[in-house]
Amino acid sequence: MTELSELESQLIAAVDAAGDEAALDDVRVSALGKKGTISERMKTLGKMDPEERKAAGQALNALKDKVADAIAIRSTSLKNAALEARLANEFDDVTLPVRPELKGSVHPVSQVWEEVVQIFGDMGFAVAEGPHIETDWYNFGALNIPEDHPARQEHDTFYFNPKEDGSRMVLRTHTSPVQIRTMEKSTPPIRIIAPGRTYRCDSDQTHTPMFHQVEGLVLDETTHLGHLKWCLEEFCKAFFEVDQVKMRFRASHFPFTEPSMEVDINYSVENGQVKIGTGNKWMEILGSGMVHPKVIAAGGLDPDKVQGFAFGMGIDRIAMLKYGIPDLRAFFEADLRWLRHYGFSALNVPTLPGGLS
Ligand code: PHE
Repeated sequence: MTELSELESQLIAAVDAAGDEAALDDVRVSALGKKGTISERMKTLGKMDPEERKAAGQALNALKDKVADAIAIRSTSLKNAALEARLANEFDDVTLPVRPELKGSVHPVSQVWEEVVQIFGDMGFAVAEGPHIETDWYNFGALNIPEDHPARQEHDTFYFNPKEDGSRMVLRTHTSPVQIRTMEKSTPPIRIIAPGRTYRCDSDQTHTPMFHQVEGLVLDETTHLGHLKWCLEEFCKAFFEVDQVKMRFRASHFPFTEPSMEVDINYSVENGQVKIGTGNKWMEILGSGMVHPKVIAAGGLDPDKVQGFAFGMGIDRIAMLKYGIPDLRAFFEADLRWLRHYGFSALNVPTLPGGLS
C-alpha cells in the first residue's frame, strides 16, 4: 500500500488539476466516496490492534479533512472563475451607439408626469401613491360622497363584482383617495402630489377609460386660499414655460372641498396652434378648493386644528395642451409612428435647471 503522505500528495494534486466542477466531483468520489481510496483504508482499521488503530485512525481522519478542505477551496475558486468568465462573456458595451431601428422614445404622459414632479418637487412637495383598486370608502365615502350623491353617477365608475358581504371594489375614478391614505399615515404639515392612473367608463376624443391625474394636497395649521392660488400660478408658468399666465378661479362644487374652484387659464389660437398665456380665451385645467372638514376628519386628523387645500388635474389633458396633441385616444394606442412624432429623447430628463422640454 502507498504511504499516506504519498496518497495525500496524489489526491491534492488531483484536486488542483480538476478543471471544472464535474472533474472535481470525480476526485471527491474517488477519494471520499464509498469505494474511494480513503474510505477503503478506513475499512482496514478494524483488523488492526488497538494501539495501531488509534494512530492510523487519527492519520486517516486528518487526511480526510485535508482533502475535503482542498476540495472546498478548489470548488470556490472554480465557481469564481466560472462567474468571471460569464461576466466577461456577457459584457455589454454601453458606449456603442444605439441602432436606429431600436431607438425608443419617452411617451408624452411620462414626460409630463416627470415635469410635474420636478416643478412641485422644487416647491417642497413629496410624491405619494395609492392603489388603483380602491374600496368604496376611499374613493367616495371618505371624500364626503355619500351613497346617494349625484357625483357617483358623474364618475362613471368601473365596479368589481360584489364580495360576499355585498361591498364592491372600484377602479379609482380619481386620485383623491390618495388624500385620505396620506392623511392616515402622516402628521401635518403635509405637502404631497399624487400622480397616477385613474379610470372611468367613458371614451371619445377627449376621454379614455384609463387616464392620468395628479392630485395635490397641502395641510397644516395656516394654509389658505392665497397659498393655493400662488402655488397653481407658479405651476402653470413653470409648466407651460411662459412668463405670464392669467388665471380665473371659478366657483364650483366638489363634495370634498369647500369652497371649491375650477381654474381656467387664458390662451389664444395662432395659426391653428394653442398658445397658453396670451389672448383672452379661457380654458379649464383643474379642480381645486379648501379641503372639507369632513374629509380631514375621515383622514383621521382634527379639522379644528388642520386646514389646507387640494387640487386635481388631468395629466393627459395638460400634455395635449402643452405639446399640441389633438386626440387623447392616440395616447394609448401604442402606435410607434405616433410615439416617434410626439415622444421625447430618453436621455433628455426634464429638470428645472436643465429645462423641462
Ligand atoms: N377629484 C376631482 C376630479 O376628479 C378633482 C379635484 C381634486 C377637485 C381635489 C378638488 C380637489 O374631478
